[in-house]
Amino acid sequence: MALWGGRFSQAADQRFKLFNDSLRFDYRLAEHDIIGSVAWSRSLVTVGVLTKDEQSRLEDALNMLLEEVRANPEAILASEAEDIHSWVEQQLIEKVGNLGKKLHTGRSRNDQVATDLKLWCKAQLTELVDGVRQLQHALVATAEANQDAVMPGYTHLQRAQPVTFAHWCLAYSEMLARDESRLQDTLKRLDVSPLGAGALAGTAYPIDREQLAGWLGFASATRNSLDSVSDRDHVLELLSDASIGMVHLSRFAEDLIFFNTGEAAFVELSDRVTSGSSLMPQKKNPDALELIRGKCGRVQGALTGMLMTLKGLPLAYNKDMQEDKEGLFDALDTWLDCLHMAALVLTDIQVKRPRCREAAEQGYANATELADYLVAKGVPFREAHHIVGETVVEAIRQGVALEAMPLTALQAFSPAIGEDVYPALSLASCLEKRAAKGGVAPEQVAQAIADARARLA
Ligand code: ARG
Repeated sequence: MALWGGRFSQAADQRFKLFNDSLRFDYRLAEHDIIGSVAWSRSLVTVGVLTKDEQSRLEDALNMLLEEVRANPEAILASEAEDIHSWVEQQLIEKVGNLGKKLHTGRSRNDQVATDLKLWCKAQLTELVDGVRQLQHALVATAEANQDAVMPGYTHLQRAQPVTFAHWCLAYSEMLARDESRLQDTLKRLDVSPLGAGALAGTAYPIDREQLAGWLGFASATRNSLDSVSDRDHVLELLSDASIGMVHLSRFAEDLIFFNTGEAAFVELSDRVTSGSSLMPQKKNPDALELIRGKCGRVQGALTGMLMTLKGLPLAYNKDMQEDKEGLFDALDTWLDCLHMAALVLTDIQVKRPRCREAAEQGYANATELADYLVAKGVPFREAHHIVGETVVEAIRQGVALEAMPLTALQAFSPAIGEDVYPALSLASCLEKRAAKGGVAPEQVAQAIADARARLA
């Protein structure tokens, strides 16, 4: 039976009921609905609606229900109830009879659903922070093991300057550190309890909403009842966090897909995270990474969808807001899955060092070094840049690396060049020189690994 039958003389059309009901997805709020109900029942004692004895019978029954729900959440789906709030109330009435009908005094499903969803978001946020940190651990460990793996760094997907695989890993660890701090920021604004805002105008019982918020583990209670029941900023913020986090994972995936190609062959992905072709026996495809890259789309879609749903909604609650859940659940589940999968991909990735080094030696990735060498000899940088550009054209024409050109050939471009140019053009020198904070110099990378470890401890 619906919670609101008195006003109606006709039953709901079955098609409308299917369209309207939210139990098939909001059953995931069951635990939070029950926990919120226990706290609400305690508040009802403070205002004389329930006796202590009544409250403890309600609390016992709710706790029993909580255990059942934790043991088998999917069992809820067999019910015809409209939504999780109706379901919990029905179950309670089945357990304690008429006493159960007192629980909804002074409360509305509008402040209830806002509270349940915030509690769910808080729990999910903790898991996401864990997932983000696990991946940072995996990145830092992979960096540690690959400090000597020199490879080309790219701009415009053209070989630019040598870097190390470790430095590449640490770039993603920085993105994830920001993802984590974005989640922590979100929590600050999310951690405010709407319970006791009623349907829209506030509850008619003199409930201490700050005390109630404290019982539920919120930092405080909301300040305005209209806003409390119609605010879904936390949904938007979490979807934004997820969207940005997924963009990072998608770029991570794309880089590795490229590194894993036959053409680059800088890494080999493990058999455990790749799959084969039904036709071409030689294939080993990077499906885990492609799915991470692909799933980025649905998360951005959930954010855009929710922004559009909320745009232009009048105050206060409107049923449109029931649309907040499916996209949010899916986006946060997806993000968490992808974080776990990215960490798994890194676990036994094989970095092919000789091939990485070979690629770093090609493509004139040390051309900037030659320009800096000329600068050290007193040539203004702009002029040095031009000279090296001409030298590279000649090297390309001859099909050789800069360091393979004889001294006399180099001197044809600038008399400032001497025998000491060759060590300056070495890969080791390219790396070592970039020793300012955040650079690719080995000691900077080692320091960055130590710092990241300390932050993660
Ligand atoms: N299932 C609803 C939702 O998810 C619960 C709130 C219903 N409130 C109402 N006034 N119909 O938003």
